Amino acid sequence: MHKRVPVIAANWKMFKTKDEALEFIFAVNGHMPSTDQVESIICAPAILLNLLVKREGENLRIAAQNMHYKDEGAFTGENSPAQVKTAGAEYILIGHSERRNIFNETDEEVNLKMHAAFKYDLAPILCIGEELDVRESNQTKQVLDNQLEIAFKNVTKEQALKTIVAYEPVWAIGTGKTATPQMANETIKDVRSKLAHLYGNEVAMQIRILYGGSVKTDNIEALLEESDIDGALIGGAALDHNNFLKFVEAAKNK
Ligand code: 13P
Repeated sequence: MHKRVPVIAANWKMFKTKDEALEFIFAVNGHMPSTDQVESIICAPAILLNLLVKREGENLRIAAQNMHYKDEGAFTGENSPAQVKTAGAEYILIGHSERRNIFNETDEEVNLKMHAAFKYDLAPILCIGEELDVRESNQTKQVLDNQLEIAFKNVTKEQALKTIVAYEPVWAIGTGKTATPQMANETIKDVRSKLAHLYGNEVAMQIRILYGGSVKTDNIEALLEESDIDGALIGGAALDHNNFLKFVEAAKNK
């Protein structure tokens, strides 16, 4: 049995000004457990990356929320992988459902971004998830398998091991509807079995798979008690630094 270090990732989305971001960082610095206990990550707006990287404590990690897959070019308003990397981010969120649904990102683009991440030594946090109608028509496994298959196309075992997968059912994001811990665990087990199919059991058992979607301080513990849930990707509730510390503390006890 492999020990998978739990991950707490706060996705700030398009929230926080510079001052609010700094206030958060100063409030949590010094309270983070070591990264071999919990990997604590802030997924920050690109414009704040550099600021946060300079001030992150030694046990906090910074992720970008998006990047283009091309090395560089005439893409007004976009950020390149090298820009994200040299701003100091270590992780990159890829394929968040808001990117897929609002900005029409496709599975193929997700795969291109996975390869761009590895090229620039950024560790992907790959988001997958199903819509409500998919869940209700019992097609969740099929849809997630397909998202995984395309996202990991031509990704090597060594690269797969650097990836964190976040399972975020779209119907649970920002809605207050959480998947029950059992439901989330069953789906995450299916995700792990698909990864085992792609890379073998040995690799699949080492990849961290997070749950995301209306995670709150009062449901985090029950979620983390489940066998295959290795942490959480949290939006709204993790904007508050006290909550973030509570999430991290809960993961420390996993
Ligand atoms: P909420 O926690 O606000 O539901 O957001 C989840 C999410 O999208 C994290 O990436």
